[in-house]
Amino acid sequence: MSFRKIAATASLGGLLFGYDTGVISGALPFIKDQYSLSPTDQGLVVSIALAGAAVGAGFAGGIADSLGRRRVIITAAALFVAGALICALAPSYWILLAGRLVLGLAIGVASMLTPLYLSEMAPADKRGAVVSLNQMCITSGILGSYIVDYLLSGSGTGWRWMLGLGAVPGLVLGIGMIFLPDSPRWLAGQGEMNAARDALNRINGPKGVDTQLHELRTDLKRENGRVAPWSEMFSGKVKYALIVGVGLAIFQQITGINTVIYFAPTIFNAAGLPSTSASILATAGVGVVNVVMTYVALRLIDRAGRRSLLIVGLIGMAVTLAILSAGFFIGNSGALAWITTLSVAAYVGFFAIGLGPVFWLLISEIFPLAVRGRGMSMATVANWVANLVVSQVFLVLIDGIGSASTFLLFGVLTVAALLFTLRLVPETKGRSLEEIEADLGGEEHAHGGARASA
Ligand code: BGC
Repeated sequence: MSFRKIAATASLGGLLFGYDTGVISGALPFIKDQYSLSPTDQGLVVSIALAGAAVGAGFAGGIADSLGRRRVIITAAALFVAGALICALAPSYWILLAGRLVLGLAIGVASMLTPLYLSEMAPADKRGAVVSLNQMCITSGILGSYIVDYLLSGSGTGWRWMLGLGAVPGLVLGIGMIFLPDSPRWLAGQGEMNAARDALNRINGPKGVDTQLHELRTDLKRENGRVAPWSEMFSGKVKYALIVGVGLAIFQQITGINTVIYFAPTIFNAAGLPSTSASILATAGVGVVNVVMTYVALRLIDRAGRRSLLIVGLIGMAVTLAILSAGFFIGNSGALAWITTLSVAAYVGFFAIGLGPVFWLLISEIFPLAVRGRGMSMATVANWVANLVVSQVFLVLIDGIGSASTFLLFGVLTVAALLFTLRLVPETKGRSLEEIEADLGGEEHAHGGARASA
C-alpha cells in the first residue's frame, strides 16, 4: 500500500467535509418548500450541522489520542453514512434536523482528524503539501455537491437524494480505513513498536524503516518530556500564536464565505437570476472557481508566501463585497443579476487564494510543538462556532437590513481582517517549524508581521 493510496482513502474525510457542508445550498430551497420553513427554521437546518461540527472537533483530538486515529475516523465514516440516510429518509423536519446533527458531528471529527492522520502518515518531506491537499478535497467536495444539486434540481424530492448520496463516499471511507494501519506515531506513542514498524513498512516499504522508527522515538521522548501546562496557552509566544490562530479562524468565517457556500442559490435568486436551476448552475460555477483558485494558491503558497496571498486575497474580497453590496443597492435587473453573480464568483476566488487555505496551513505551523494539538483544536472549534453564528444570523439579516447592507457589513469586517493581518500575521514561508517558534515572540509580536515578512 503506497502513501498515495492511503492519502486517497483518508482524504475522503476532507471530501465529505466539503460535500456535506456544500450540499445544503441546493437542497435548501426545496426543503423550505416541502416543510414551509421560516428564515430562522432554514438557518437551523444549516446551523445544527455546524453546532455538531464544533462539538465533534472539540472532542475528536482527545478521543483519537486514546482510541487511535483510525478507529475514530471509521466511527466518523459510520456517522457520515447514518446522517446521510436519516436526512434522505426523514419523515419530518425534526428528524431532518437530527440527521443534520449527526452529519455535523462527523464533519467536525473529519475536519480535525483528516489532516492530523494524513500528516502523521506522510513521509516528512511531503507533510506540508498534505495539509493543502485537505483544502483541495474540501473544495472538490463542495463542487461535487453543487453538481449533484444541479443534476437533481429537476424534482421536488431531489433534495433527499442530494443529502443521501453523501452515504456513498462515507461507506468507501469506512471500508477503506478498515484496511489501513493506524498512524505510526500513535502506535509508537502507545508503546506498540512492532505495529508501528509494520505501519511504516506498509507506507514506504522496508527501506529506511529503522531510521524512521528511531526518529519517532526521539520525537516522542522530546514531547513526553514536557507536557505544557494550560497556563502556558495564555502567555508569551503561545498567547500570540493563539491570537493569530483564533483571530484568523474567526475572520475566515465572519467575512461571509459560507453565506455564499451554503446559501448561494438563495443569494442568486434574490439577485434576480431567472430560475432555481439557473441559480444552482451559477452556484456550480462558483464551485469551479473555488477549486481552481485553491489549486493556484497551492502552487503559489511556498513561493509568494502565506502573508502575501492573504493580503491580496483580503483586498480582493473587500472590493468584490463592495461591488456586490452596490449591485443589491441599485436593484435587480437582467444585467445586474449577472454583475452580482460575477462578483460572488470573484469574491470566492479571492477567498480561495488567501483566507481559505492559508488559515488551515498557518494553524498547523504557528503553535509550538508542546501545545500544537491543543492550539489547533481551539482554533478549529473557534472556526466552527463563528461559522455557526454567521449562518444562523445571515438569513435573518437579509430579511431585516437587506442584502446590500449585509454584504457591506461583510466588507467592513474584511477590512478589519486585513488590518489584523497587516499588524499581526507572520510570514512562515520557507522556515522550519522550530525557526517559526523561535521567531514568534512575546514583546516583539506587535511588529512580528512586518519583521517576519522582511
Ligand atoms: C473553510 C470552510 C469553507 C471552505 C470553502 C474552508 O477553508 O474552513 O468553512 O466552507 O473553505 O472552500
